[in-house]
Amino acid sequence: MNLFVVHGGTRLSGTVRVSGAKNSALKIVAAALLAEGRSVVRNVPAIADMEAMADVLRGVGVSVDTDEGRHVLDVPAEIGCEAPERLVSRLRASIVVLGPLLARCGHARVAMPGGCNLGNRSIDMHLAGLARLGAQITYTDDAIEAHAPGGRLRGADVDLPFASVGATENVLMAAVTARGTTRISNAAREPEITDLAAFLSAMGARIEGAGSADVVVEGVEALAPTTHDVVGDRIEAGTFAVAAALTGGEVTIEGTDPTHLHIPLSKLEQAGAAVVPGDGRFTVAGGDTLRAVDVVTLPYPGFPTDLQPQYLVLLSQAAGTSMLTENVFDGRFQLVAELVRMGADITTESHHAIVRGPRPLYGREVTATDLRAGAALVLAGLVADGETVVAEAHHVDRGYADLAGKLRALGADVTRAPISAAAVAR
Ligand code: EPU
Repeated sequence: MNLFVVHGGTRLSGTVRVSGAKNSALKIVAAALLAEGRSVVRNVPAIADMEAMADVLRGVGVSVDTDEGRHVLDVPAEIGCEAPERLVSRLRASIVVLGPLLARCGHARVAMPGGCNLGNRSIDMHLAGLARLGAQITYTDDAIEAHAPGGRLRGADVDLPFASVGATENVLMAAVTARGTTRISNAAREPEITDLAAFLSAMGARIEGAGSADVVVEGVEALAPTTHDVVGDRIEAGTFAVAAALTGGEVTIEGTDPTHLHIPLSKLEQAGAAVVPGDGRFTVAGGDTLRAVDVVTLPYPGFPTDLQPQYLVLLSQAAGTSMLTENVFDGRFQLVAELVRMGADITTESHHAIVRGPRPLYGREVTATDLRAGAALVLAGLVADGETVVAEAHHVDRGYADLAGKLRALGADVTRAPISAAAVAR
């Protein structure tokens, strides 16, 4: 048993607090490798991916103590420079230890990462960026080995062909202690990058322009440990925002900056929901009907690919024909077949999904193919007639801290079987 059981039909209401951002916290704990001593990271989400990353860090000699959203990381003077397959294969994001390990040790060996099943997820830009900083890189199907001649990387101009989140982060973490100046052009601008840069700056790094497409890093000799609060999870917040609009309910979402969701929230308004932004919070009230809107995913500040599956569910309940275009990942329409089995009218062609709505949804046994698809299927269950069972629920545990418990607190009838570790922790 590894499932969500959802009984649809409730309008959600109340207030929910989101956790710290998965996609920020994972990189920030990896960045802690850059300085000997104790770093403390707070507002860390209680999710399976964080446990996997903590194990990767333990694997290179860091002591990681986790307690109620706090990760206390004791980084020794000598760290191991090899991240083995047994740990790395659980988590694609573990590739981000490559930059810090290389910067700290002068060489690194990281097994090829595993992770979400989202089509072609290459790391060529990570490797090309590190090579620009002087790293000599060799790789096989199993592992990547990188070596900094003379033990230290050197600053360089790194021009990314696509604003890749992971490549920007790896290059940034490698550059902070490189000799000289690094300029990253076409850098990713996600709020999680700004958060990582804030952590690195608090450690003593000299970074300008984080959050813009042009980031300049002046390498420093060494960094010192620090304490940091992770930014709120805009994707978790967006998931609850969709749940509110979809069920015609009214939900206040706390712990996130609504400006990080500018485009998704304006799409909700175009679809007929009311959105009231506040300071570190916002409220979404769904109307009785939803209207079709078109959605196109793009790197930040564009519409996030991590909310695309949830909006697919929303649009299946909107009157008219919507077109949803996925530009970031090529494997992100896998939930369409499951939604069609529930009654949705969605056809896909290449990276476009055409959604005709509204069509009534019916409870079925469906399968989560990845993290966001799983969350979206739970949302579909909230408006489906009867019982929806979402199998492979562990995908959702990777990135949502107690999704079922938080939805229940808003009035939904959702259970997770068996109960997730995050729910026990709450
Ligand atoms: N890409 C390459 N080569 C590279 C790097 C990326 O071709 O060297 C391609 C990828 O295959 C993909 C696109 O570029 O098609 C975007 O990849 P990006 O590097 O921006 O994404 P990522 O760092 O792998 C992070 C998040 C994802 C999120 C994306 C986009 C983490 C751990 N993951 O992935 O989060 O969708 O940025 O915002 O930060 C999720 O949380 O569900 C999730 C998948």
